[in-house]
Amino acid sequence: MFERLRGTRDFLPNEMAARKKVFSSIKKTVEEFGFFETDTPAIELFELYSIKSGEEIIEELYAFQDKGGRMISLRPELTPSVVRVLVSRAKELSFPVKWYSIPRLWRYERPQSGRLREFYQLNIDIFGSEDSRSDSEVISCAIKLLCDLGFDESDIEVRISDRRMLHEFLLNLGIDSYQDVLKIIDKREKVSEKDFNEMLTEIGMSATQIKEIEDFLNSKGNFLKSIENLSKIYKGEGISNVIESLRKIAENLNDRGYEKFTTFDPSIVRGLDYYTGMVFEVHDRKREFRALFGGGRYDNLAELFGGEHIPAVGFGMGDAVLELMMRRKNIWPEEKVEIDVFIATIGNVEKEVSKLLTSLRNSGFRVDFDFMSRNLSNQMKFANKLGASSLLIVGERDLKEGNVTLRDLKSGEESKISFDKFVSSPSNYLTKVL
Ligand code: HAM
Repeated sequence: MFERLRGTRDFLPNEMAARKKVFSSIKKTVEEFGFFETDTPAIELFELYSIKSGEEIIEELYAFQDKGGRMISLRPELTPSVVRVLVSRAKELSFPVKWYSIPRLWRYERPQSGRLREFYQLNIDIFGSEDSRSDSEVISCAIKLLCDLGFDESDIEVRISDRRMLHEFLLNLGIDSYQDVLKIIDKREKVSEKDFNEMLTEIGMSATQIKEIEDFLNSKGNFLKSIENLSKIYKGEGISNVIESLRKIAENLNDRGYEKFTTFDPSIVRGLDYYTGMVFEVHDRKREFRALFGGGRYDNLAELFGGEHIPAVGFGMGDAVLELMMRRKNIWPEEKVEIDVFIATIGNVEKEVSKLLTSLRNSGFRVDFDFMSRNLSNQMKFANKLGASSLLIVGERDLKEGNVTLRDLKSGEESKISFDKFVSSPSNYLTKVL
């Protein structure tokens, strides 16, 4: 017997049906926002990720050499693939482009709650606009899709910041090792305060600078109010532009009615290297789980991939954390797969059953039949297990008189019907029962 690989999942039919229901709710919301679905290959050239995804992702790649000697990787995220497509097809596209997809991704991580080696991730991105309304559009879409799944503001918090803000702040403090500090800040929630301070000391921060950084990172609060406070404290031209663009996002989110979901939180910096501006994460309020969404603005990736300047903003949401959060709130659907009609047989009725199967399926019914030569009682038990609404009993004796028997499995009601009439128009008989 083989075990499945660690960090992967099998989905049985009822589990698959529940997942399909959740995904179709997500797709509906995202399409209401005007996003169109795309997909890309599961395998890509290794270099696609080594350019700008960041060390963490590179360490987690499922990479191998193919028979042509190329280094290939299973996709650990979608963003590089989608930018690759965009750069190669930019001429035929009308910008802004709004795309989404729900790819299966692979990362060689240590499997734990909400962290798997194979998972699905909703990605939505807007390409071709630097306008802050595209930032608020993707954040709004994140909020709305969670609301449509049954969450409200007591369950989720959208924490927003801007990487440029931290950059400017550090420059004001006389610190220019921005990338090093950013990496340490990204780990802040996973390490103790003491370790955090030690890491900053190791890269040369003084105690005063560390205190200033701590104060800055702790200045979280209501999105718009925090931005207004910051605009009173920080007056430099660079930082004022960043504050202004955040203010526009905050006002736009308030106008859409999403204020209660959002928090300004400068400790959000995100681990991936390509983000250039606004960044955000969505967490459960109780902070039981890891981030559900991560995203932000990444305006330089298209150029790094050899294309023109194509500003971009988007996010990724993993299905594993979503399922944990929905189960915690008891809103993960319980689905049961079922069929419409089960054909039970008595004696040698193979030819008639074949005709019935074709006719019923051509009329759009979900049909199954007995091909295990079981007795009638066992066939009925199996029909119930399949969740069939109707049982069609086809027996040699009945057929001699030109009849079949239709039983409604919910009410137990039974009627004899002419085989010929049933075969020529099954909907006349089944619409009553189904
Ligand atoms: P990310 O932060 O690496 O961003 O992932 C986004 C979300 O995917 C996470 O918050 C989490 O829910 C889920 N996720 C990530 N890794 C795993 C894992 N090993 N197991 C289960 N779930 C996981 C990105 O991937 C960016 N490319 C998102 C993006 C799109 N930014 C702009 N557009």
